Amino acid sequence: MVLDTKTIQKKTAGQKAAEFVKNGMTIGLGSGSTVYWMLKMLGEQVDQGLNIKGIPSSLRTEGWAKEFNIPLTDFSQVQRLDLAIDGADEVDPDFNLIKGGGGSLLREKLVDANSDRLIIIIDESKMVYQLGKFPLPVEVVSFGWEVTAQRIGDLGAIPELRKKDGDIFVSNNGNYILDCKFKQISNPKELHNQLKELLGVVETGLFIGMTDLVIVGSGESVKIYE
Ligand code: 5RP
Repeated sequence: MVLDTKTIQKKTAGQKAAEFVKNGMTIGLGSGSTVYWMLKMLGEQVDQGLNIKGIPSSLRTEGWAKEFNIPLTDFSQVQRLDLAIDGADEVDPDFNLIKGGGGSLLREKLVDANSDRLIIIIDESKMVYQLGKFPLPVEVVSFGWEVTAQRIGDLGAIPELRKKDGDIFVSNNGNYILDCKFKQISNPKELHNQLKELLGVVETGLFIGMTDLVIVGSGESVKIYE
C-alpha cells in the first residue's frame, strides 16, 4: 500500500516514539491515527519480549492495543504512568495543545495528566504559531447542551455540535462535543479556565503545560523538540 506524505509523517513519528518505551513501564496509550503507528510498533516490540502494560485513552485505542497484543491495565491497578504518548490537533511553540479531534479528549487528559512524562507525536501540519485554526473541541453534558453552547458563544466562539454520519456524536463517556471556532486563542490557559467555569462543560481540548517532548514526522525522518 502506498502511503501519502501526511501518513508517512504520522508513521515515522509514531515509530520513533515507541523507542522511548522501556521494559517494565506502564504506558498511557493516546488516541488517533498517529498513535495507531506507535501501537503497531509497540506490538512488535512486545512480540519480541518487551514487558509493558498500557492504559488506553479511548475504546478505539483499546481495540488496536488488543489487536497488537499489548497487555492492558486500568486505574484500579495503577495510580501513576511512566510515560504517555499521544497525538494532537495543534501544537504551539510553548507546547500548548488542542486535542479532541477524535472526540477522546477527556480520557486522553486523564491519562496524559497522570503520567510522569508526555510525548506528543504529530505530522508537520499540526505545528502552529497560535492555537485556534482548528476548532476547539469542548466536551459537554448532553442535557441542556444548547444553553451551554450559548454560554460558550458569549466567550466569542461559534460552537458547532459535532455530528457523525448525520447523528449526534457521543463521546466514550456519553457526552456531546462542541467544536468551537474562536477568532484566535491568544491566551489558552485563560480560555480553558473560563470554559471550565461554565456549567455543563466537562472538559476542554486545551492541554496546557503538560507536554515534555514533541516528535514531528518530517519526510522519512523526525524532528524532536523539548
Ligand atoms: C483524539 C485526539 C488525537 O490525538 C488527535 O485528534 C490527533 O489525531 P491524529 O493523530 O489522527 O491526527 O486528540 O481525541
